[in-house]
Amino acid sequence: MKALVLAGGRGTRLRPITHTRAKQLVPVANKPVLYYGLEAIAAAGIREVGIVVSDPREMLKPDHRTGELVTVLVNSQAEIRAAVGDGSRFGLKVTYIEQEAPLGLAHAVKISEEFMAGDSFVMYLGDNLIKDGVSPFVREFEREAPDAQILLAKVARPWEFGVAELDGERVVRLEEKPREPRSDLALVGVYLFTKSIFDAVRAIQPSARGELEITDAIQHLINTGRNVRSHVIRGWWKDTGRVEDLLEANRIVLADLQPSIEGTVDEESVVEGPVHIGPGTVVERSHLRGPLVIGANARVSDAYIGPFSAIGEGVTLSECEVEHSIVLDHSEIRGIAGRIESSLIGREVVVCSTDARPSAHRLMLGDSSRVELA
Ligand code: DAU
Repeated sequence: MKALVLAGGRGTRLRPITHTRAKQLVPVANKPVLYYGLEAIAAAGIREVGIVVSDPREMLKPDHRTGELVTVLVNSQAEIRAAVGDGSRFGLKVTYIEQEAPLGLAHAVKISEEFMAGDSFVMYLGDNLIKDGVSPFVREFEREAPDAQILLAKVARPWEFGVAELDGERVVRLEEKPREPRSDLALVGVYLFTKSIFDAVRAIQPSARGELEITDAIQHLINTGRNVRSHVIRGWWKDTGRVEDLLEANRIVLADLQPSIEGTVDEESVVEGPVHIGPGTVVERSHLRGPLVIGANARVSDAYIGPFSAIGEGVTLSECEVEHSIVLDHSEIRGIAGRIESSLIGREVVVCSTDARPSAHRLMLGDSSRVELA
């Protein structure tokens, strides 16, 4: 059994963060989303992992809703390679598989045929987080030996996912992001395949949005009489493609936080609930209400940090209040009167007050940024 982790693709819904960073490396509770997947694969006893990456470049692609050509930035594989290396840190042996462009999940499968060399594999979408890991599903797949196995989860917005229609436990139909979903069962980004999937990905044509869809390939397996099992999962699962989902994933992971304070907290500060403070971090005259994490070498003074916050390495927070937010490395927030809430703040961002005249909001924001002022 091998694994195929998809870490190419675009990150359009997390712009501007993903203008400069692969979406699979955006951190949840200060750890890149991708690491959770790699740890889950290692925990399932799998050693050989192919990671699909793509080149950093701009390209034109049809927008799947309007059909208009839009410029998209393809993720940087250099960053993924630097973050994961040869995989030994996770107990894995990683091989990088280069995808020339994000031509679809089934295209990613297609180009991994040589790496799989006839083995069965678990395919894991690098921006997905799944609470139970993958071990129970890998064991079930080995036990039942179907041609393919998919995981499903009930969701509130099925039109944003691949959707399955079941007849009892049998999968009869799969549709990618249907306008009128026939069920609320979304395909989770963890799939188990035997080598039969390679015939299927060769047999299908690109969809209206120009991608080779994995849903079409699995549908092809069904249509040709293959045994496709499904499993409706009960634990939580998140596709971290949107800010709200990322914040929710952050909340869920932080809820199980093991507290530890490696930095220094002065006597005037109050620490409540589970809090992790990284080495070299200094907290002064502040109120921390966990669960929350603060990375290494940060500085927090005269501030309040509320539950479900993940503050990155080298961040400076002073005279401000932050809650239920993710602040990435080396950013600075100071002298802000209102509480910053439910926010995702990128790397090296400065949010500050100023006495400069004329009194005004002065913004320098990257493309696709969003600011909501109260
Ligand atoms: O998260 C579950 C959903 O994932 C499923 O319900 C859908 O059926 C499935 O198509 C997929 O939908 P997304 O719109 O979320 O896929 P996305 O384009 O975000 O790609 C998923 C991951 O695969 C992401 O880490 C990027 C990577 N990828 C994507 C494409 C299209 C590649 O490595 N290569 C690609 O060509």
